[in-house]
Amino acid sequence: MKLPTMLSAAVLGIASLVIAAAAPQPPAASAPLALTPPMGWNSWNHFECKVSDAVVRAAADAMVASGMKDAGYAYVNIDDCWQGGRDSQGNIQPNERFPDMGALAAYVHSKGLKLGIYSSPGPKTCAGYEGSYGHEEQDAQTYARWGVDYLKYDWCSAAGDERAAYAKMHDALVRTGRPIVFSLCQYGWQRVWSWGASVGGNLWRTTGDITDNYDRMTLIGFSQNGLERFAGPGHWNDPDMLEIGNGGMKDDEYRTHMSLWCLLAAPLIAGNDLATMTPATLAILTNPEVIAVDQDPAGVQGHRVAEEGPLEVWMKPLADGSRAVGLFNRSSYEAPMVVRFEQLGIGERAEARDLWTRRDLGEFQSGFDANVPRHGVVFIRVRDSALR
Ligand code: GLA
Repeated sequence: MKLPTMLSAAVLGIASLVIAAAAPQPPAASAPLALTPPMGWNSWNHFECKVSDAVVRAAADAMVASGMKDAGYAYVNIDDCWQGGRDSQGNIQPNERFPDMGALAAYVHSKGLKLGIYSSPGPKTCAGYEGSYGHEEQDAQTYARWGVDYLKYDWCSAAGDERAAYAKMHDALVRTGRPIVFSLCQYGWQRVWSWGASVGGNLWRTTGDITDNYDRMTLIGFSQNGLERFAGPGHWNDPDMLEIGNGGMKDDEYRTHMSLWCLLAAPLIAGNDLATMTPATLAILTNPEVIAVDQDPAGVQGHRVAEEGPLEVWMKPLADGSRAVGLFNRSSYEAPMVVRFEQLGIGERAEARDLWTRRDLGEFQSGFDANVPRHGVVFIRVRDSALR
């Protein structure tokens, strides 16, 4: 190496050392989170901005008392509208409805549950509250200090490079050293499923907002076909939170909602008032065999295997070699439906079990048929008899 080159290399070396010292520390590798789709509750679908410390405590109490916690629900998530302003040092403050966020987190943790919170990469959230723009590092540290375990980060008023904005908050969360599930919410723009995991997302919304309406719920749910190759342990497609129990759909329609979300390996974030739900709502939210489809350790998202007008068959391969199968009738009349085993990639003979009624249906040859109620589903688990 010639002398001037060596000198400039030395100067460059010193310069890069100086730069390295000034730059924020790279995030340390984090433990894997959300190995199965996250399960919990979120305040938005039912309470919108009428959320408070008392509402969140009541949700945590009900999650335990109702048996939802035992069924696998773990996160109690505050959505928009909790924020106040910032103090003179720029630290985010909760508003008057949340007198002590650290105490609320401790209460939720004392129930064996986890706390989630919400912010935006923009200056304002969707409901016009304080966002994290320019305060990402500081907000991540604040959340970690309070004891937050999950962050939904909602695009809304943000502008510019989405990937950079999400990566920035993810890196800040990792630097806190606290495991915090990172939920991207930008409504499925720019094929987020193809890059969400690369910016640290554990889940990403794939669509606009759900409403408590059969047409809207099915428009979202049945549009997910083709996204299955982007989901897997630690990184999930999120077709939005559940509306089960909010009153706008019939029970058959809510069973369609739950079955489809489980076939999609979607996050199961209940959005109803847990403190006042009916036994029928609870039964739909907590059927263990239905939830087992969603939480299957293989983490494969299901897809559509057959479609005939408003009749659709969806299938999710499970870790034990069996298949979860939903026969969905989107028409306004009861309809006979059939699925052939070759469409499921299994042999001539298979045993079927009804997941909603939790009954064995016996052995079938070459296919399975059933009458499916209007807007309803027959949800089964099928096991090739040769697997025994
Ligand atoms: C957006 C999100 C919703 C909810 C609201 C809150 O619409 O998609 O899930 O978080 O903002 O303002």
